[in-house]
Amino acid sequence: MMDVLDAEFALRFLHMCRNGHLMGWHERNGGNLSYRIKAEEVEEIRGDLSFDGEWKPIGTSVPALANEFFMVTGSGKYFANVLLNPKDSVCILEIDDQGENYRICWGLVNGGRPTSELPTHLMNHEVKKKLDPKYRVIYHAHCTNIIALTYVLPLNDETFTRELWEMATECPIVFPDGIGVVGWMVPGGREIAVETSKRMLVHDIVLWAHHGLFCAGEDFDSTFGLMHTVEKSAEILIKVMSMTPIRRQTITPENFRDLAKGFKVELPEKYLFEK
Ligand code: 13P
Ligand code: ZN
Repeated sequence: MMDVLDAEFALRFLHMCRNGHLMGWHERNGGNLSYRIKAEEVEEIRGDLSFDGEWKPIGTSVPALANEFFMVTGSGKYFANVLLNPKDSVCILEIDDQGENYRICWGLVNGGRPTSELPTHLMNHEVKKKLDPKYRVIYHAHCTNIIALTYVLPLNDETFTRELWEMATECPIVFPDGIGVVGWMVPGGREIAVETSKRMLVHDIVLWAHHGLFCAGEDFDSTFGLMHTVEKSAEILIKVMSMTPIRRQTITPENFRDLAKGFKVELPEKYLFEK
């Protein structure tokens, strides 16, 4: 039997919260993180979990996640404080056998509830688990530059994907499936969760206009790295746009096709339009 806070996944979860905070992506309680805990990891910490918590409605239905356990940030909790007092800021929850309710098995010792974006996290997890069970991390952050771009660029997948790809040669290799864009919606409920999870069928990155980003990945490093790559590319784009409306040179559709061959990735032609 192992304490939750001695488990490798818990350390990595807390470390990622801290790193996100240091990037400036988590003002106040902005952003949230969830991890679908592996069955063998649950067994290691089972003795540190309690199973007498009240079942509460998730607010949506995720039958493919029945009986799974998640580590999730708490609603209203500051990423800046997660390392200072993990048991106050974070929880482990169990999903019931219908995928309709959850109960808290560890953490949030001073009360509270899991992130208000739980429906989006869980619906994204469900979509990704069905596509590839290796996916375990869903991360939401309020990254400054990509949010700024949602006021200026047309809100569609093609524009955001292509513009960000053009800003760094690594981008099409890191996110060959591009970015899904959701227009402004009220956060925190089922409706936005449905729209987001639809896009997660195709993309690992979904942008919420005037709000932030959701990234999905197999582990903490790759999911954080994805967020960082997109946000850095957004920063370069803003610098370029701030200097001049004219691009003297850029990465061309032909360059992208060569890159795809060289790195053996498939880049959908819909992103390689002539401008
Ligand atoms: P929570 O504090 O409920 O996680 O909300 C933060 C947030 O970013 C909502 O989109
Ligand atoms: Zn948010």
